[in-house]
Amino acid sequence: MTHIRYKALTQKSTSTPHAGKLLAWYDRHHRILPWRISPADYAQGLRPDPYCVWLSEVMLQQTTVEAVKAYFLKFIRLWPDVQALAAATEDDVLRAWAGLGYYSRARNLKKCASIITDKYQGRFPADIEMLRQLPGIGDYTSAAIAAIAFNIPAAVVDGNVERVISRLFAIKTALPQAKSEIRRLSRQITPQNRPGDFAQAMMDLGATICTPRKPACILCPLNAHCAAYTEGEPEFYPVKAPKKARPVRYGAGFVIVSPDNKVYLRKRADQGLLGGMSEVPNSDWLAVDDTATPASIARLTNAESAPFAAQWLPCGSITHIFTHFELRLSIYKTVTATVPPSNNGWWADADRLHEEALPTVMKKAINAALPDIFK
Ligand code: ADE
Repeated sequence: MTHIRYKALTQKSTSTPHAGKLLAWYDRHHRILPWRISPADYAQGLRPDPYCVWLSEVMLQQTTVEAVKAYFLKFIRLWPDVQALAAATEDDVLRAWAGLGYYSRARNLKKCASIITDKYQGRFPADIEMLRQLPGIGDYTSAAIAAIAFNIPAAVVDGNVERVISRLFAIKTALPQAKSEIRRLSRQITPQNRPGDFAQAMMDLGATICTPRKPACILCPLNAHCAAYTEGEPEFYPVKAPKKARPVRYGAGFVIVSPDNKVYLRKRADQGLLGGMSEVPNSDWLAVDDTATPASIARLTNAESAPFAAQWLPCGSITHIFTHFELRLSIYKTVTATVPPSNNGWWADADRLHEEALPTVMKKAINAALPDIFK
């Protein structure tokens, strides 16, 4: 299916009215980002390293540009090329990824690096369909790598681009139903000439001008083409289907501290949420329904589910928002040198916890028991 899509694109003229104006704006106003080649350098013949494009695009799935910058630089320092990343252990990669969230991305990153190294001699394929077959690379990321790294005129549609297109064309259909229409229109305005810069320009426009609230339409290079601007209420777009309320799950987390200031950690199962990451011992996380009472919730969050009998000191509770639920964990702490071996964990120095693959929710849990361990 995607083959036909890109064939259709290649029959278009080299530029489009939108592209001409947008690229001229990008030449002057592009953001300077560590994985990016500036348009001037590009014109001089410099080309982005597909490894950097891939790494940044995987990190940027679900995460903001500001949050990604430091992680990207750390990864490039630790693993300057795809072969180096392939040679790392999954635990090393998870440790370096800790805090970025959506940890299956880190595991897929390592798998993908191994495939590129072993099967493709360390070179990313310049083909959208082949890219799409790789672990962790979906429609968006394959199009982004194809366009940015290989200058293939793929339509690159992330959340920012969805907003820009839905405003340009005043799309009345609500998201997510409007996605296929947005994709079609995006293909229509994607140029043959500089499709990689065009994709990044659309992202920059969405991030800096065509913002969710108070868009700076007066500064927008596309305002003459924008149906939402003409209508007078750009913020009305994109139309969104009403969101379902996020269910709340409850549980308890147990911070075990040794007299010589170590914290007891375990490894989570490889599959599932936060798979392969480190954690403090904790209970099941259970949702409650409308019939829940404060007493029934208290049972989910008390120290009954502790990994062993001890004096568990209550340290308040933490909240963490996952995509599909909100988690409220009551935190308990005990000081002991002995943990039953069935817990299968290890002791980590409290002042070296930043070296562990601890997801943000677990950092919050530890901070509740040991304030300011993570700043
Ligand atoms: N968001 C996702 N990919 C991006 C990129 N290449 N530049 C800026 N923002 C992005």
